[in-house]
Amino acid sequence: MGETAVNEISRVGKEGERASNDTALVWDLPVRLIHWSLLVAVIGSWLTRELEGDWFSWHTRFGYVVLILVTTRILWGFLGTHHARFSSFVRDPKTVIEYLQGKTRGTVGHNPLGALMILAMLAMLLIQSVTGLFANDQVFETGPLFGHVSIEMSDRLTSLHKQLFDWIVVAVSVHVAAALFYLFVRRDNLLKPMITGYKPAELVPHAERIESSKLWLATLLLATVGGLLAWIVLSAPEASIYIF
Ligand code: HEM
Ligand code: HEM
Repeated sequence: MGETAVNEISRVGKEGERASNDTALVWDLPVRLIHWSLLVAVIGSWLTRELEGDWFSWHTRFGYVVLILVTTRILWGFLGTHHARFSSFVRDPKTVIEYLQGKTRGTVGHNPLGALMILAMLAMLLIQSVTGLFANDQVFETGPLFGHVSIEMSDRLTSLHKQLFDWIVVAVSVHVAAALFYLFVRRDNLLKPMITGYKPAELVPHAERIESSKLWLATLLLATVGGLLAWIVLSAPEASIYIF
C-alpha cells in the first residue's frame, strides 16, 4: 500500500474518529447508535406489554423512542454518509437474484438481500410505532393520538399493532439468524463493524471509505424529529376510554 493511501486511511474524522492503517470506517456513528438503541427500545416496548403491572407509560415512551429512531434512520438513508444511503445499498430484483445465485460478490455496505430485510424492518417498525399512537387496550389505556380517530378506527389500528408485532419478531429473528450464519458459516463478521464502524481496509476501496459521521447533521435531524413528535403529541385532543 502506498504512502498516500496509508495517510488517507489514517486521517482523523471531524468527530475525532481515527482509522488505523489496516481498517477503514464504513458505518457512521449515527447508524450504529440508532441500531443498538433500536434493539433496546424494541425489547423495552415488548417487555412493557409482557410484564405484569402498570407499565403502559413506559410502553409509550419506548414506542416514542422507536418512532424517533426509525424516522431519523429513514431520513439518514437520504442525507447520511455513503453506506447509510438507500441509494448505495438498495438494489434492483435482478441484482438480488444474482446475489442469491452467488453470481455477484458481496458489497462493502449491506448486501442486496440484507437490504430488503432492512427496508422491511424499518417499514414495519414505523407502522408499529405510528399505529401505537392511535391504539387502545379496550379498558382504559390509549395512545396519545387516540382522540384524533373514531373508536372503530382505533380498534382497527390496535389490531394491526398487535398482529404486526408477530411479523416484527419473525423479521428480527431471521435478521439475527442471518448475522450468525455469516459469522459462523461464511466466516464473515458483520457484527464487529456494526459495533466499531470499521472493516478491514483491504476490503474497502478508497472511494467507499467515509471520512466523517456527519454527527451535527444527525443530531439536528434527531432533534427535529423529536421536536415534531412532541408538538404533535402535546397538541393532540384529550381523550380517554373507559369500558368496564
Ligand atoms: C430489535 C432488534 C433489531 C433490529 C430492529 C435490527 C435492525 C437492523 C437494521 C435496521 C439494520 C440496518 C442498519 C442501518 O443501515 O441502519 C441492521 C443491521 C445489522 N444488524 Fe440488526 N437489528 C436488531 C438486532 C440485531 C442483533 C441482536 C444483532 C446481532 C446478532 C444484529 C446484527 C446486525 C448486523 C451485523 C447488521 C449489519 C448487517 C450488514 O453488515 O449488512 N441486529 N439491523
Ligand atoms: C408510541 C408508541 C406506542 C404506543 C402509544 C403503543 C400503544 C399500545 C397499546 C394501547 C397497546 C394495547 C393493545 C391491547 O392490549 O389491546 C399496545 C400493545 C402492544 N404494543 Fe404498543 N404502542 C406503541 C409502540 C409499540 C412498539 C414500538 C412496539 C414494538 C416494537 C409495540 C409492541 C406492542 C405489543 C407487543 C403489544 C401487545 C400486543 C398484544 O397484546 O398482543 N408497541 N401498544
